[in-house]
Amino acid sequence: MEIKTAIYAAILTGSLAFLTYFGSSCGSSKDLPTPEKQTLREAVFPFGGAISPEFLKNDTQYRELAAREFSSITAEYVMKMTAISRGKDVYDFAAADEIIDFARKNKMRVHGHTLVWYRETPEWLKNYTGTREDFIMLLEKYIKAVAGHFKGKVVSWDVVNEALLDDGSIRIEENIWYQKIGLEYIEIAFRAAHKADPDALLFYNEYGQEYSKVKSDAVNKLMDELIEKRVPIHGIGLQMHTNANINDLQLKQAVRDAGAKGLKVHISELDVQTNMENNSDYVFTEESALKQKEVYRWATEAMMELPANQRFGITFWGVTDQYSWRWLYEGIPDKVLPFSEKYEHKPGYEGILEGLKEK
Ligand code: XIL
Repeated sequence: MEIKTAIYAAILTGSLAFLTYFGSSCGSSKDLPTPEKQTLREAVFPFGGAISPEFLKNDTQYRELAAREFSSITAEYVMKMTAISRGKDVYDFAAADEIIDFARKNKMRVHGHTLVWYRETPEWLKNYTGTREDFIMLLEKYIKAVAGHFKGKVVSWDVVNEALLDDGSIRIEENIWYQKIGLEYIEIAFRAAHKADPDALLFYNEYGQEYSKVKSDAVNKLMDELIEKRVPIHGIGLQMHTNANINDLQLKQAVRDAGAKGLKVHISELDVQTNMENNSDYVFTEESALKQKEVYRWATEAMMELPANQRFGITFWGVTDQYSWRWLYEGIPDKVLPFSEKYEHKPGYEGILEGLKEK
């Protein structure tokens, strides 16, 4: 057996990633040479991460890990409306173009996130006064400008993000798009995105399907309704900001149900919380890491169980624990990603490799 294959087999048997992160009483990781080439870029479907240009610029290890492990990237923030829209018909794509440039240099796919969200809407929009028709025109014009700018550089879009509440009802409060246009904003957005970039794969993106069959069923019902109206939609995103208490059967059923209609399925924002009480003095232990490893394995197995042509891939919501949104954005101490603050493979990475093994 070729040495490279033997090394990868060693990883797949679940030894190297764990040794790297925790070391081991049965010899140290230096006893097992890390493979030169085998990373998630060689996996049977794309793995990616949510990327910030500031860390690409300022952190060599961040940049190198992303280039080494990811074949797909998503902009964590700089393709959102507040990052791009400087006023009505005024756009700033500079930061987002840095993501595009990094992807081009590293032969990566870019998944656009997100054209229409109830959050991260700019102040000028909140203060804009106009009729329903004015808001429809504004929405269509924004999507035409943004999806048009990235045409040929972005392969797919989260066209609409988080339109539903946990009880499965449409999100009304805080949702300017629903309040000004009504439920039709969703199909208007998809049609505008398809017109601006007919080649882009268009996704609806949502969180919580793995926690709640009610929410999962509501998302899939919305997809059925859009398909029924011949709205151009190609995929479903399950954000999967999940946690160590999630039930494996429920997680896998949510992914299975999302794929039931033949749409592509993207686990689009995967991270696994272990600090369940949001304790400010939380310590991530070996037990936390092993529980987290199982959930990363289940998510990978769920993607593997889909037909190959529906496996859009798995995107982690970040690159390293050091800059994860749970810590930086929500201020909650937790280590939610498969890569540590030292850019090492955690046991969660080993769980992903185990999940990739053909059953
Ligand atoms: C978050 C980012 O992580 C933050 O950096 C940003 O400031 C706000 O958005 N669901 C989503 C993502 O769809 O866009 C959110 O990302 C996390 C929740």
